[in-house]
Amino acid sequence: MTLEEKVAQMLQLVASYFIGSGEDSQITGPMESLGITEETVAQAGTALGLGGAAKIIQVQENHMKNDRLGIPLIFMADIIHGYKTIFPVPLAIGSSWDQELAEQSAAIAAKESAVSGLHVTFAPMVDLVRDPRWGRVMESTGEDSYLNSLFARAFVRGFQGEDLTNDFSRVAACVKHFAAYGAGEGGREYNTVDLSERQLREYYFPAYKAALEEGCEMVMTSFNTVHGSPATGNKPLMRGVLREEWGFDGVLISDWGAVIELIAHGVAEDEKAAALLAVNAGVDIEMMTSCYPKFLPELVRSGQVDEALIDEAVLRILTLKNKLGLFENPLRGADPEAEREVVYCDEHRAAARKLASKSAVLLKNSGILPLEADRKLALIGPFAQSTDILGPWAWNGAEGNIATLEEAFKGKIEASNLLVAQGSGIDTVTTGQLEEALRTAAQADVIVLALGESSPMSGEGGSRADITLPKAQLQLIAHLRTLDKPMVTILFNGRPLDLHGVYDQVDALLEAWFPGSEGALAIADIIFGAVNPSGRLSMSFPQAVGQIPVYYNHFNTGRPKKASEPENRYASQYLDIPNEPLYPFGFGLSYTEFEYSQMTLSSEEMNPQSALEVKVTLTNKGVLAGEEVVQLYIRDITGEVVRPVKELKGYSKVLLQPGESKQVSFIVTEEQLRYHHSDLSFTSDAGEFAVFVGANSRDAEEKRFRLQK
Ligand code: BGC
Repeated sequence: MTLEEKVAQMLQLVASYFIGSGEDSQITGPMESLGITEETVAQAGTALGLGGAAKIIQVQENHMKNDRLGIPLIFMADIIHGYKTIFPVPLAIGSSWDQELAEQSAAIAAKESAVSGLHVTFAPMVDLVRDPRWGRVMESTGEDSYLNSLFARAFVRGFQGEDLTNDFSRVAACVKHFAAYGAGEGGREYNTVDLSERQLREYYFPAYKAALEEGCEMVMTSFNTVHGSPATGNKPLMRGVLREEWGFDGVLISDWGAVIELIAHGVAEDEKAAALLAVNAGVDIEMMTSCYPKFLPELVRSGQVDEALIDEAVLRILTLKNKLGLFENPLRGADPEAEREVVYCDEHRAAARKLASKSAVLLKNSGILPLEADRKLALIGPFAQSTDILGPWAWNGAEGNIATLEEAFKGKIEASNLLVAQGSGIDTVTTGQLEEALRTAAQADVIVLALGESSPMSGEGGSRADITLPKAQLQLIAHLRTLDKPMVTILFNGRPLDLHGVYDQVDALLEAWFPGSEGALAIADIIFGAVNPSGRLSMSFPQAVGQIPVYYNHFNTGRPKKASEPENRYASQYLDIPNEPLYPFGFGLSYTEFEYSQMTLSSEEMNPQSALEVKVTLTNKGVLAGEEVVQLYIRDITGEVVRPVKELKGYSKVLLQPGESKQVSFIVTEEQLRYHHSDLSFTSDAGEFAVFVGANSRDAEEKRFRLQK
């Protein structure tokens, strides 16, 4: 390969650059804006953002003709929670606490993508999130690194399967955004991240590492700084931690435009300097800017870049192509006929419905839910008839074909028992809409409000400083409250919201998130009792924005607020709101009631050789079958550095029939008690530990044991 050919492999362009490449003059415009030649496009290594077997076959075949060496392109795209069959957003999948269904959702997404011609998905996004102002929390599985790691593994298994070379129904995964993209200051998109090495290693790194341990083929750099250097030019992070320490030898891709952004960050003077920083950091593919093709050949020829760096990057890219089987089968799984059968098929839609019904979280219930089918309902709100329930990452979702809540309700009750009014827009309301809502609601027994955020209000570029529901919708609630009728609210949104003006006004509250293609049907299943809700929050809902970041595994501080000293001013607290979130991590209600009893430890002492068994009896005290997520937390009472007040170490999903009891058991080992010390060693300390078992991070029974070493 010539130097130019090698460097072109390191370039990723949106697929439109390749459409008609060599024949179609339309490509000249964008090509000119990137300052690259037609020859570079013909030799480029990977394409982004196209789906559809026929299109991809055409582009690949054309590319193979134009590229002197006939090296196939890799087609990559963001298949985040489904290709055409859209599953709930990842934050909702996190709330399912169901790794099996998460894996299945990724396998289905892979199957639909692969048959439509794709080879790599830019997922899973495993960034730890503690700030719901950030719009991309919807793409994460939440605030806990242990839970995120389990989901990271499940998604990677689902996307990649066991044999990418021969199993053409799978795609390679790309874990992102390395590292700590979720920790942007103030929750503002693309903002600075400045975390200590301990914070990074203890909380932010584990989920990326878990994805790699599961065999994830690719990593994407993040837009933010880490220790003062933008990740995309951060050699200690990329070559040091990722490659040398963790042994990652797969392909590292920049995020979109992140190489050229090294200039705006203020660490590179120009595109040439940006290319130098990124290649030295070990970034193999530059996404959608052209610093590499424009300057790497020159940097090599002038001796500023060792050609061995280029060879190493190209070898990694070609190795991935080989692993995907592309040299033998450049079209891989792309098959227009099979595509018509596989994509959005009934089986996939049923799986999406199931996961949506497991992801919704019941936050409040006076007993009004599930609704009886013979009551007259007024379904009101901007989501009553909306199909905007796929979420902000569903660029390819089959929108024309999804049920609205109104349609889903009609499948459950007599049409004459369902009255519908729009009530308000997402953030606008007129007197006419309010009057119509009041008139409609006045004729009903129960008001069901379908409220939330439109999809562009979260996702990339979707940071908000005020995370209450838009004023128009709060006004709608306040108006309907005057009728003094039972009110149920269903929320569609991509982040934990500040729910003042909502939770305190309604009799029941169901967090549906963006539930995906079959979401409305799944929500109707829950509302009318065909499904008993079992979702549990994987991210805390704050009392107010002023409390953020609020997360369950915080430190104690030297002056923790004590219930026994409510008047003590000099405790770590706010004067105007509680310290605790409105709804804590792990929280979620059921239509039945679970009782925890007889928590026991097999011993009050353990050592590195002897594990400890924690047992608890769970009883379903209600009249409906239900699924509980029994959660195990641990606290290291005295550490060498401060330790969180609680950390999730295990959980078990238990399905119980009415009246049924089950003993649930967890094994605690010394390994689970390890953490990063001040010298960054990862070990445990002898001493006292608290172990908690319960229904969420707040309501759990505590016992103590000692680790002997
Ligand atoms: C996002 C990535 C995404 C990429 C490609 C970027 O703006 O941050 O998550 O994979 O675009 O679409």
